[in-house]
Amino acid sequence: MALLEVENIRKSFGKTRVLTDISFNLEKGRTLSIIGSSGSGKTTLLRCLNFLETPDHGIIRVGGETVFNAETWNNMSEKEIRRRRLHFGLVFQSFNLFPQYTALENVCLAPELLLNEEAGQGRPKKELLEEIRSRGAALLTDMGLSDRMGSYPHQLSGGQCQRVAIARALALRPDILCFDEPTSALDPELTGEVLRVIRELAEKNTTMVIVTHEMAFARDVCHHVIFMDDGRICEQGPPEEVFNNPQQDRTKQFLARYREG
Ligand SMILES: Nc1ncnc2c1ncn2[C@@H]1O[C@H](COP(=O)(O)OP(=O)(O)O)[C@@H](O)[C@H]1O
Ligand SMILES: [Mg+2]
Repeated sequence: MALLEVENIRKSFGKTRVLTDISFNLEKGRTLSIIGSSGSGKTTLLRCLNFLETPDHGIIRVGGETVFNAETWNNMSEKEIRRRRLHFGLVFQSFNLFPQYTALENVCLAPELLLNEEAGQGRPKKELLEEIRSRGAALLTDMGLSDRMGSYPHQLSGGQCQRVAIARALALRPDILCFDEPTSALDPELTGEVLRVIRELAEKNTTMVIVTHEMAFARDVCHHVIFMDDGRICEQGPPEEVFNNPQQDRTKQFLARYREG
């Protein structure tokens, strides 16, 4: 059974259909990249997976559990939506760090809020808070930021900010980590350091969905590629097939633009 199963997701904004019948599966420990022109619906799809948008139609399952069903979603409480959202982590294009908090505070904030919401699991709160802090520090160390824990976002480069954002997303132990063009706000020399940590996560079998324009990265690191066009999946498959032997004319045109550039 696939870890993530997406079935027939549809989404319109007013009269504009943005996603049409999006269906795909992702196995645990695998990395999926989503490529496609600007406006093809990639961000909206990631936002649907994280319940930041509500699909009009379709089903999302994680580990066999239905976490979204358009038919029954209106009855869902905010608390239950927040619980289900924990299956997914999202790293945004523009980092979205809290400017008033240090790197470590940014990473620990959500787990601390969650701790306040849940009733301590019988262990002293102080001990649980210390655990959150030491895990946050370990995640920042994994991201190569052990000397930056106390820095504020304005004291960090874009690449460092994005690595803090990745640590923050991991802090809640999501089943599936999603990235929306994680390097497109970065200078080329900072892109490499972010792609490197994502590559390391892939090597540790983190299940990931990555919207990206980095075609070489998608080809080398990802196990599966989806090419989106006008709100639909135009073509999907293993990277060696989609990149080396695309079947659809739209895919060929899209990839040709990257080869020329
Ligand atoms: N909140 C919204 N309201 C209306 N239209 C939207 C909204 N969000 C996205 N869209 C439209 O949906 C389409 C897909 O956008 P998006 O998912 O951002 O594409 P991509 O990430 O592939 O560039 C675009 O035409 C965009 O203008
Ligand atoms: Mg986008």
